[in-house]
Amino acid sequence: MKPVKFQGADLYPALLDEAAQKEIVADIRAVTEAAPPQRFETRRGRRLSVAMTSAGRVGWISDRAGYRYAPTRPDGRPWPEIPDSVLAVWRRVVGEDRLPDSCLVNFYAEGARMGLHQDRDEGDFSWPVVSISLGDDALFRVGGVERPAPSRSVWLRSGDVVVLGGASRLAFHGIDRIRFGSSRLLEGGGRLNLTLRVVERA
Ligand code: SIN
Ligand code: FE2
Repeated sequence: MKPVKFQGADLYPALLDEAAQKEIVADIRAVTEAAPPQRFETRRGRRLSVAMTSAGRVGWISDRAGYRYAPTRPDGRPWPEIPDSVLAVWRRVVGEDRLPDSCLVNFYAEGARMGLHQDRDEGDFSWPVVSISLGDDALFRVGGVERPAPSRSVWLRSGDVVVLGGASRLAFHGIDRIRFGSSRLLEGGGRLNLTLRVVERA
């Protein structure tokens, strides 16, 4: 499938059919049962509206000491493995040469949003960030590599995949809002977003 360009990013609308989405949701449920998502605190003591957990060798965490990738969960236990159904999406849009080290699991309940930011905590920017949208629609904003660059938004739907690579690898991006209850994929509504990243330099 050929992607659509949006602000330099590659957008694959409806890459995942309903069966593939359901398989991923079931596999991610096992991840979140082992490592429950939490609303992390920021350095300034604010709590993020998105609940997060991770799978993989390292996971993204945030607390009063700042944010970073950590080899273990806040309780000291290892992160669950990235499910094969999720790695299969990376294989389709990136390939086999390198697999991601980390899968960030973002859960957006009603009213959750994510401010404009860059993904720049990784040690290697030569690999893209792959983002999988599941559940409710989300208004995804993408700007440039410099914060003042103009930004535009696009609605992402369940099964859409976005690849931030090349010149867009360090583009500012965020989620303006979700349309709560717009999808029936997740029991109870909300949006699940998975982002796959290479964190460690080979
Ligand atoms: C992220 O930037 O980590 C998440 C983006 C999204 O939820 O689509
Ligand atoms: Fe991000």
